[in-house]
Amino acid sequence: MSRFSEPQDPKFQELNASLSFDRRLWPHDVEQSRAHAAMLAAQGIISADERDELLRGLATVASELEEGSFPFAPDDEDIHMAVERRLTEIVGRVGGKLHTARSRNDQVATDVALFTRAQAGATVELIEALMRTLLVAADRHIDWPMPGYTHLQRAQPVYLSHHLLAYVWMLERDRARFRFTADQTQSLPLGAGALAGVNFATDRGQVAQSLGFGGVAPNSIDAVSNRDFVLDFLGAAATCATHLSRLGNELVLWSSQEFGFVTLSDAWSSGSSIMPQKKNPDAAELLRAKAPRIVGHLTALHGVMHALPLTYNKDMQEDKEHLFDTVDTLHLCLHAARGMLAGASFDRDRMARAASDELIAATDLADLLVRRGVPFRECHGIVAGLVREAVDSGRALSDFSPAELAAHSEHLDGEVAEVLAQRSWLESKVSEGGTALPRVREQLEAARALLA
Ligand code: ARG
Repeated sequence: MSRFSEPQDPKFQELNASLSFDRRLWPHDVEQSRAHAAMLAAQGIISADERDELLRGLATVASELEEGSFPFAPDDEDIHMAVERRLTEIVGRVGGKLHTARSRNDQVATDVALFTRAQAGATVELIEALMRTLLVAADRHIDWPMPGYTHLQRAQPVYLSHHLLAYVWMLERDRARFRFTADQTQSLPLGAGALAGVNFATDRGQVAQSLGFGGVAPNSIDAVSNRDFVLDFLGAAATCATHLSRLGNELVLWSSQEFGFVTLSDAWSSGSSIMPQKKNPDAAELLRAKAPRIVGHLTALHGVMHALPLTYNKDMQEDKEHLFDTVDTLHLCLHAARGMLAGASFDRDRMARAASDELIAATDLADLLVRRGVPFRECHGIVAGLVREAVDSGRALSDFSPAELAAHSEHLDGEVAEVLAQRSWLESKVSEGGTALPRVREQLEAARALLA
């Protein structure tokens, strides 16, 4: 019997169905059904024989889904209904007992929580793999000078290791966000029923324990309404992808002939269909372009959840495609970032030359005057005048005679030559977190300890 006297419009079915994408939740759906059946029997809600029949049928369902022989039916609206329908075909009427004390509302929230937790863990592992690759690259290029930039203008020289380590700290924060996301999936929704709880003396704690939840959601209304953990995942992913987009763009710039700092491996480059000489950093460009797609998923789900009355609304079915595409896109980007960095070869000379422009030492010259007691703001002006004269006359600062220097300030004496000696610009940055080599080594150790 059905409540309805008319069949569904095929276009409504197309709009309403989620099977095409939510089928990937099946391992979690089967796992949850096993735990639910075991609990129903333990509580005397179904018999032990019925439980065994359900478990036998679920095993067949799982192997059919695993090997791709599961017979999906045209009327299967979502993975939950498909599994129950097939289970009932296999074990007969008892299959209909599996849904005792359960609703698709608490069922889907539980599946999505399990999925999100598993994917947060997988993302943490991919982030750690990328961090390790960055640590190896930082170690290998520990004392390779390069220009540090602000406004994409050469600003102050740094070591390449220091620059690469910046990404390690960004990824460390990403890792923390994904761990937080996993924590947010720790309350079991199952047992909330449709929204108000169920008419049976279930043991939610048992189900929580067998599915690896830390506890049970204390409010059945919140349990089926909550998708915060999906928003948390998307938020963490949006920030992480944004970090990778910055890495991607640096690789695009650095691999251009204009910079010439890095050559990407052939495995991560492509050619042009018309210009035979081209080697394009497509993977790095795509790292740049994938981030807004993930940010879009986050924005879209915020839109779905915005002002949505409690509890379950079909709108929430829209959580999945945003989540799934985010997982797939981010994981691909993390693999690509790692692959590109592992195969990148940096050009020590090109970077050193770009970092050896004396004007880059302007701040160090100003600091020399500071050490002589001149207030920094005045030093800034004195050195700006010097730089202007150098630029106007097309000369290097080291070409200035002692008299020319002294004309700008009596303190610009013999020590100027020392300041202009290139290593000193880097090695003078002795503050904690700075680019002086002992500080970078210290930082590298601290970064390694994150993964120990
Ligand atoms: N496919 C649905 C979803 O993903 C499952 C929950 C349906 N519940 C309902 N009462 N219609 O959200």
